[in-house]
Amino acid sequence: MKLDVITIFPEYFAPLDISLLGKARRAGVLDVRVHDLREWTHDRHRTVDDTPYGGGPGMVMKPDPWGEALDALAPRVPGTPSGTIPSAPGGGLPTPPVLDETSPATSEGASGPVPRLIIPTPSGRPFTQADAVRYAAEPWLIFACGRYEGIDSRVAEEARTRMPVDEVSLGDFVLAGGEVAVLVMVEAIGRLLPGVLGNADSVADDSFAPGAMESLLEGPVYTKPPVWRERPVPDILLSGHHGAIARWRRDEALRRTARHRPELLSRLAPEVLDKHDRAV
Ligand code: ADE
Repeated sequence: MKLDVITIFPEYFAPLDISLLGKARRAGVLDVRVHDLREWTHDRHRTVDDTPYGGGPGMVMKPDPWGEALDALAPRVPGTPSGTIPSAPGGGLPTPPVLDETSPATSEGASGPVPRLIIPTPSGRPFTQADAVRYAAEPWLIFACGRYEGIDSRVAEEARTRMPVDEVSLGDFVLAGGEVAVLVMVEAIGRLLPGVLGNADSVADDSFAPGAMESLLEGPVYTKPPVWRERPVPDILLSGHHGAIARWRRDEALRRTARHRPELLSRLAPEVLDKHDRAV
């Protein structure tokens, strides 16, 4: 999988060299390239931001460097519209298709794969495990890290005329910029790539993973020693009864979900709950 990251802080991405993702990069499973947005500025101060139209606090990222960066990474196929659609009635270019999260997985264009552009923003739709799974199946993702009050809206609008664009949020809180959000998403996606995790089963058991435990949070886990600071591991886990252990784990997952994320339980389809579940 190819990943391009555009940022004004390339240093943020040093962690991609370590642990699982570092291994995946060295193994050639993940080809990550981090680009400094300021390479696409042309003034002495390498300016990337300006004051917002309409007033208000903070600064907005200028469209020019972003447009040039995206043109450089994913060159426009000759003959496709420039994205500047004149508003004069009856005039100008036909409206190009809007490519977003509803668009199919990245398609093969006439001149090779088309990337998906992912823009982290607190005003995006929530990023979930289902997105991580979907993105892990794509050949090429470009992440655009905004700072300040965000990126001029015309950048996403214009990019949508030639590649699918998803604006996604990690949650109901505001980060200082998209860099940390991209690190989170790259880790969530990267660990799903074939050969990255040592034990493929651990992906199937994840909280939120599709399957029998879908939409349940993982319950508590234990390892040796059997007693630690006078706290024993639950007997059932030492019993060797696989059926009883599976039942116990499901009960614990149900209890934890009810305590921490009750809305997930109410969203469960009734047919996925068995008689024992209802009793928990
Ligand atoms: N950038 C700033 N806040 C963010 C959030 N909550 N999610 C994704 N990107 C962000």
